[in-house]
Amino acid sequence: MPPPRSAALLLLVALLARAAATGSPWVYSDGAPVQSNTIRITTLGSGSPDVRKEQLASGFLVEVGNGEQDKFIFDLGTGAFINLWATGVPLSTLTKVFLTHLHSDHHADLATLYVGAMFGRKQPWEVWGPSAATPELGTAAAIEGLRRFMAWDTAARRHIDLVGRKDDGDKVIAREFDFSKVNQVVYKRNGVTIRSTPVSHYNTSGPVAYRLDFQGISFTYSGDTRPVPELTNLAKGTDVLILQNMGPIEDLAALSYESQLLINTSHITPQQAGVIFQDVKPRLGVAHHLTVNAASRAAIIEDIREGYPKGPIIINEDLTVYEITKEKVEVKKRLVPPRSWGYWHAESNWQAAAPAEGAARADGGGFQAVGLPSSK
Ligand SMILES: *[C@@H]1O[C@H](CO)[C@@H](O)[C@H](O)[C@H]1NC(C)=O
Ligand SMILES: *[C@@H]1O[C@H](CO)[C@@H](O)[C@H](O)[C@H]1NC(C)=O
Ligand SMILES: [Zn+2]
Repeated sequence: MPPPRSAALLLLVALLARAAATGSPWVYSDGAPVQSNTIRITTLGSGSPDVRKEQLASGFLVEVGNGEQDKFIFDLGTGAFINLWATGVPLSTLTKVFLTHLHSDHHADLATLYVGAMFGRKQPWEVWGPSAATPELGTAAAIEGLRRFMAWDTAARRHIDLVGRKDDGDKVIAREFDFSKVNQVVYKRNGVTIRSTPVSHYNTSGPVAYRLDFQGISFTYSGDTRPVPELTNLAKGTDVLILQNMGPIEDLAALSYESQLLINTSHITPQQAGVIFQDVKPRLGVAHHLTVNAASRAAIIEDIREGYPKGPIIINEDLTVYEITKEKVEVKKRLVPPRSWGYWHAESNWQAAAPAEGAARADGGGFQAVGLPSSK
């Protein structure tokens, strides 16, 4: 909730004064902007609809090291907003959202981002996502519904907007595209190209996978799907391949007909992920959307290794970061303070916690290197 007007004004004045004193526009939780030639992917939620405190539902924050320091959200499922807020990235800079499909574990937290980002946002909020079998099932209808769902909220909050609305910050643009087009460019700005391709989830029209390319490096994110050749084709030559997984499944034949059908039509099992990784041979394969615990971890790796005996793989977890450059793919953990402040405005970032540019945040934010698991 935003603070009351007078307190907010005092806070803003204090922060602006501090910003002027330090001379730096804002500082991210690692204390530094993304380097040029780099894509940084932060996992906001690595889990499934069975959301739990340790694993929120699917969501990614993608930062690219272009001149604009562009940021993208890829999916924002149940709970994923919590980790987004904790990163300290100002919500007002998150104007570009890409949705793989409209299941709640991939889009349910959009409402909170929508209203939060409205404060201090100067550009419209844009949401890319697929069409569907009928217009009312598509992304544009969903975003119009979201806008209406939040109508009272946004109307009521407008009176405390410190900046005033002389910009396009309260506009929403749904950029719905034809889900069925293979390898189509859906975004091309400032050196970043994003492609979509149709995948197959619950045998419905709509779900897509995405690939983002920037200065010769890339990642591909499957969304939820069963294995389809379109996904493998999209991913060919990609650096980091994030595959939705379901399992481990000990004995498919022992499951009920309905459960088998669900898995066969909707999801990638770890064994199937192994086959896809083998076909694509990414610099890093990420098994995502799994419920991870001590017992499941070894079984998942074992299943993937059936089809992909070598090659770097990792099971995704919340706040795991993949930093891609031409030279290397680094895996890090995004450190977020448990009682972090989020940021509504780019201008009002928490300068108090940033003693100097490049230094770690005093409240504990930052990054920690984690090694890749051994390939056995
Ligand atoms: C998928 O949908 C098509 C057409 O809607 C149908 O013919 C086919 O039987 C479905 N397959 C499964 C596995 O449900
Ligand atoms: C699911 O796939 C497995 C393996 O391909 C197959 O043996 C099984 O019959 C399928 N079950 C259903 C319900 O489609
Ligand atoms: Zn899902």
